[in-house]
Amino acid sequence: MGEENLLAVSRALQNVEICCGPFERILERVRAQDWVYFDPPYVPVSPTANFTAYHVERFGIAEQTKLRDLCLQLSERNVLLMVSNSDTPLVRQLYGRWPFQIETVAARRAINCHSNKRGQVNELLITNYGQ
Ligand SMILES: C[S@@+](CC[C@H](N)C(=O)[O-])C[C@H]1O[C@@H](n2cnc3c(N)ncnc32)[C@H](O)[C@@H]1O
Repeated sequence: MGEENLLAVSRALQNVEICCGPFERILERVRAQDWVYFDPPYVPVSPTANFTAYHVERFGIAEQTKLRDLCLQLSERNVLLMVSNSDTPLVRQLYGRWPFQIETVAARRAINCHSNKRGQVNELLITNYGQ
């Protein structure tokens, strides 16, 4: 990361609060019109791509559903949010209705045990505003 990039990141993070903790704790901190970004463990795109265990507690369907329900609660409080996740049927099903919009974006990924599968993959950005 070059100096220019670091300075750009520093400028972008002015007035940003980075919270580290269980995602439910955000309810104690947010106010209407705040903008929240969640970058959760991704739903695996294939049975072998099950890298969901950053921590001893797995982030499975139950946690993904709890996060979606939290996003519904935040939406009721007029909190703006963005969630990133893999382009998978589960994510499209969880967020496939009001108040969410789903946008597909191409992302570069350098990690895959199959070298021919490294590179561009589609990911989903979910928001509750705009469009
Ligand atoms: C896709 S990574 C996000 C990486 C981060 N954005 C970064 O750039 O370093 C998902 C993160 O969610 C964290 N995580 C797992 N379970 C969580 C939970 N219940 N609440 C909050 N974070 C959790 C993991 O520890 C991991 O750091």
